[in-house]
Amino acid sequence: MKTTQTELPPGVEKARIWDLGLRLFHWALVICVVTGWLLGRYGPSIMTLHFYAGYAVIGLVAYRLVWGFVGPRAARFVHFIYGPGTTLNYLRNIGARKPSYWPGHNPMGALSVFAILAVLIFQTATGLFADPDDFINVGPLAKYVATDTAQDMARLHYRGSLAILALVVLHIGAIVFYKKWKNEDLIRPMITGWKLVRRDRQG
Ligand code: HEM
Ligand code: HEM
Repeated sequence: MKTTQTELPPGVEKARIWDLGLRLFHWALVICVVTGWLLGRYGPSIMTLHFYAGYAVIGLVAYRLVWGFVGPRAARFVHFIYGPGTTLNYLRNIGARKPSYWPGHNPMGALSVFAILAVLIFQTATGLFADPDDFINVGPLAKYVATDTAQDMARLHYRGSLAILALVVLHIGAIVFYKKWKNEDLIRPMITGWKLVRRDRQG
């Protein structure tokens, strides 16, 4: 991993943590989820564009699942699955007014990544099978399940959209908390790839 040294706190270095693929994935996901959400809730009553945004999310999440196994270190799931001990220890000190310098997703960030990916899988799966009984916007796989099931899927799809909203608000809230309270900018690393991290790199 490439590093550069400038005036940094002791034991901290600047390293390329987020690879280009992961960063492109993140910002494309933001665009597609926000567009899909808004089109679903406020878009035209014929939801073709909403479906396209949904298919894009399916593609992006599929890419991320593969990248989680074959991507570089910080992108790999196995490197941000933390045990309860590490997570509780991190939580105990989360209020400290100093940057975490975590070399990847910290234990709380990791939980939020898994929650966001899970709810997006739920949302796209329910969308594919949803039949809201409006005779226009029928998910492409709804014909393979019973009518009742397809209508349940539409209801679950609606609830999933609320869960996405809650998780994204929490996600952005956490990033603001890191910036304002802990004086740690997480956004710039998600743009440039470079992050200030502990030199020892222990998770
Ligand atoms: C629909 C909106 C959003 C979704 C679905 C979303 C989803 C995600 C996901 C899945 C990750 C994990 C990246 C990975 O390892 O694959 C992540 C990380 C991150 N996101 Fe978002 N995000 C959203 C909006 C935003 C916005 C608006 C910002 C900036 C203000 C942001 C900043 C970040 C940052 C900084 C990280 C890295 C956190 C860390 O250092 O652990 N996200 N986001
Ligand atoms: C992350 C991706 C997605 C998000 C954020 C999302 C979000 C939404 C939202 C907010 C609504 C409006 C719910 C309401 O107000 O009742 C909606 C409706 C709908 N979506 Fe999605 N959706 C996604 C993916 C998909 C996919 C992949 C499909 C199928 C190809 C799909 C099919 C539908 C259908 C058929 C409706 C109408 C359901 C109804 O009116 O009750 N969605 N979606």
